[in-house]
Amino acid sequence: MALKVAVGFYLIYTVIKLEHSILLNMKLQRTTSPFISVKSSLIHGRGVFAKKNVPKGTKIIEYVGKKITKKQAEELVTISINRHKKDKTVGAVYIFELNKKYDIDGDVPYNTARLINHSCDPNCEVENIRGKIWIIALKDIARGEEIFYNYGYDYEDFEDHPCRCKTNRCVGYIMAEEHWPKLKK
Ligand SMILES: C[S@@+](CC[C@H](N)C(=O)[O-])C[C@H]1O[C@@H](n2cnc3c(N)ncnc32)[C@H](O)[C@@H]1O
Ligand SMILES: [Zn+2]
Repeated sequence: MALKVAVGFYLIYTVIKLEHSILLNMKLQRTTSPFISVKSSLIHGRGVFAKKNVPKGTKIIEYVGKKITKKQAEELVTISINRHKKDKTVGAVYIFELNKKYDIDGDVPYNTARLINHSCDPNCEVENIRGKIWIIALKDIARGEEIFYNYGYDYEDFEDHPCRCKTNRCVGYIMAEEHWPKLKK
């Protein structure tokens, strides 16, 4: 009898645990979009690719993450830049401005858009539309093409971020276009 009760309790416990992990998984499920799939990239690690033709102006996928204050963002930038200096395989900065008070830290496993690589000749841009960060197609993108945006990094420490986008416009470093003229000096 005692054994039956123990087994009963164990089964109930297992079901509750399973349900909990399913719910947790649902919450942490990776964001997706009908336009993309994740595959390994020739540029770096994994990348995001168009799985169908994407017309110019399409909101491809939302860049999601944890809402953080500007102060938290500042601290995180320092931490992630130092982490990147030690290990170049990890991304440097995943922070986007949300509004005057808050930023988004996109370095979370459920943010698929964090896998988008940088290009000096990108086919997408990042836009804040009514408080949401979107990856928007800058041109018509053909099925199979990799999705890119310009990470817009600062000029500071640019040598820590070499670019391998291999496009004709590549300036050799991951950097906002406004800083490119400084490279020619
Ligand atoms: C946000 S992650 C992009 C996803 C990454 N491919 C992955 O598999 O995790 C950013 C990192 O990818 C690498 N990366 C992205 N675009 C690159 C490029 N054009 N050239 C060289 N490395 C790049 C850099 O190491 C960068 O810090
Ligand atoms: Zn480049």
